[in-house]
Amino acid sequence: MHGRRRLGDGHGCGAAAASSSPRGARPRGKLVLWAAAAASRRRGALLVAPLLYLALMLVMVGRWEWDLEPPVPVRVGVAILRRAPPPGSVYRSPQVFHELWAFMQADVNHSSALMTAWHQKATQKWKPCLPKRLLQAELPPSNGYLIIEANGGLNQQRMSICDAVAVAGLLNATLVIPIFHFNSVWRDSRAVRIAPFSNRLAHSVPSSIQGLRCLTNYEALRFSKPIRSLAERMVHRMINNSSINGGKYISVHLRFEEDMVAFSCCTYDGGQQEKNEMDKARERSWRGKFRRPGRVISPEANRRNGKCPLTPLEVGMMLRGMGFGNTTSVYVASGKIYNAEKYMAPLRQLFPLLETKETLGSADELAPFKGHSSQLAALDYTVCAHSEVFVTTQGGNFPHFLMGHRRYLNEGHSKTINPDKKKLVLSFNNPNIRWDKFKRNMQEVLHHSDLKGITLRKPDASLYTFPMPDCMCQQAQA
Ligand SMILES: *[C@@H]1O[C@H](CO)[C@@H](O)[C@H](O)[C@H]1NC(C)=O
Ligand SMILES: *[C@@H]1O[C@H](CO)[C@@H](O)[C@H](O)[C@H]1NC(C)=O
Ligand SMILES: *[C@@H]1O[C@H](CO)[C@@H](O)[C@H](O)[C@H]1NC(C)=O
Ligand SMILES: *[C@@H]1O[C@H](CO)[C@@H](O)[C@H](O)[C@H]1NC(C)=O
Ligand SMILES: *[C@@H]1O[C@H](CO)[C@@H](O)[C@H](O)[C@H]1NC(C)=O
Repeated sequence: MHGRRRLGDGHGCGAAAASSSPRGARPRGKLVLWAAAAASRRRGALLVAPLLYLALMLVMVGRWEWDLEPPVPVRVGVAILRRAPPPGSVYRSPQVFHELWAFMQADVNHSSALMTAWHQKATQKWKPCLPKRLLQAELPPSNGYLIIEANGGLNQQRMSICDAVAVAGLLNATLVIPIFHFNSVWRDSRAVRIAPFSNRLAHSVPSSIQGLRCLTNYEALRFSKPIRSLAERMVHRMINNSSINGGKYISVHLRFEEDMVAFSCCTYDGGQQEKNEMDKARERSWRGKFRRPGRVISPEANRRNGKCPLTPLEVGMMLRGMGFGNTTSVYVASGKIYNAEKYMAPLRQLFPLLETKETLGSADELAPFKGHSSQLAALDYTVCAHSEVFVTTQGGNFPHFLMGHRRYLNEGHSKTINPDKKKLVLSFNNPNIRWDKFKRNMQEVLHHSDLKGITLRKPDASLYTFPMPDCMCQQAQA
């Protein structure tokens, strides 16, 4: 069940996208989060009913098994033999890069893109505004315990906890999130047990309930002290190393891990060796699911439809085309990149000031988190949250939560480049494309992301991605 959620929103072989948060192969992630009641900052006068009910120490052990539901065979394209496939079908980005590299180096008129990427915020300002009532509520008597199990990846656990606080608030229940495995201490006869608890609460609920979700997500939930303290040091190092850009840096959520590439059924330029490795990876994680009769795998159609994970090279070319120069600091948030030596090289060539958790943190600092995917994802999450520009390349919970969080922190603007990959593959298709044409295309993509930066939640959309207007209010411009 939770695997399905983590596999997200319909990418990859026409079935579903691989999971949302960076992680290693399949370690067991152990994550400690705690809810530091926001109310404690304002002394006892402001009681947050469900939060005070919330057992403060939450110890969750994430499960990392793949238990994808059998994907429904979906026809994503019909293989027809053709001389020349339609534009955007084939990975030609390295050839495009080869042709454009000299022009990129010669183009020095780009130093200010970090300062000028976003324009929308000047016209609209949003501020967090949680319903005051929430902070003043008297504690009603508890009707009993609500016990949930929060499993899945980092942000799926986050969603479960926030929704559970909201449900506990609705029921006047005492919320208990025990150690991942159901704890007999809480076998109270009045307890309602919901396990696993994810995706049980509708997107649209009354505003006081939305307020509880936001209060929990943005104010109460904190990463545990060791995660927070290393993450803060990493952010400061990024800012210090970006001093030529006023402390501003770009963060990129790269989804180019082996299982992601395998799951997408897209093909790149690794030839037979890549094909063998991907077949093996698919077999390892999904047994025969990709070989079912009736299942048509069309890498070309996937690519044209914008479903293929962007390679590090493609992200680099896109950003250079958007006007980010080679002195821009870039933080890459990711699990283990597939064939990293080959695929990361061009991104480093385009952006020499490139950092990852492994380069920002020392081996000693990272040692306690090693092998714990959710904790490593929490470090990535924090560095991405504080960047000037966040780049998402493949959907999933991780970028969706970050976009919402960044809206909450940035006066409503997600400051996120969420490229339309159907458009991108067309620009990456023609090795003869002129540099100025390429730049114009990329700047359109950036402009589009800027326009979409401030977006209000639609009824069927997630509050965790769109905190406006439920949890933020528009401020009059002075
Ligand atoms: C950026 O590019 C310029 C011109 O191509 C080059 O001279 C400079 O060394 C590069 N800077 C970095 C940090 O690589
Ligand atoms: C540099 O870029 C700006 C804005 O994109 C443009 O107005 C200006 O003409 C460019 N300058 C040169 C020398 O190309
Ligand atoms: C919860 O408590 C409030 C305030 O005491 C009360 O108005 C409401 O009916 C209670 N709801 C439930 C489901 O018990
Ligand atoms: C900031 O960066 C400079 C140059 O990169 C380095 O010399 C300095 O030690 C850094 N300061 C901190 C506090 O990391
Ligand atoms: C910061 O920048 C300096 C100089 O460019 C570089 O040597 C260093 O590795 C970077 N990273 C950190 C974490 O300081």
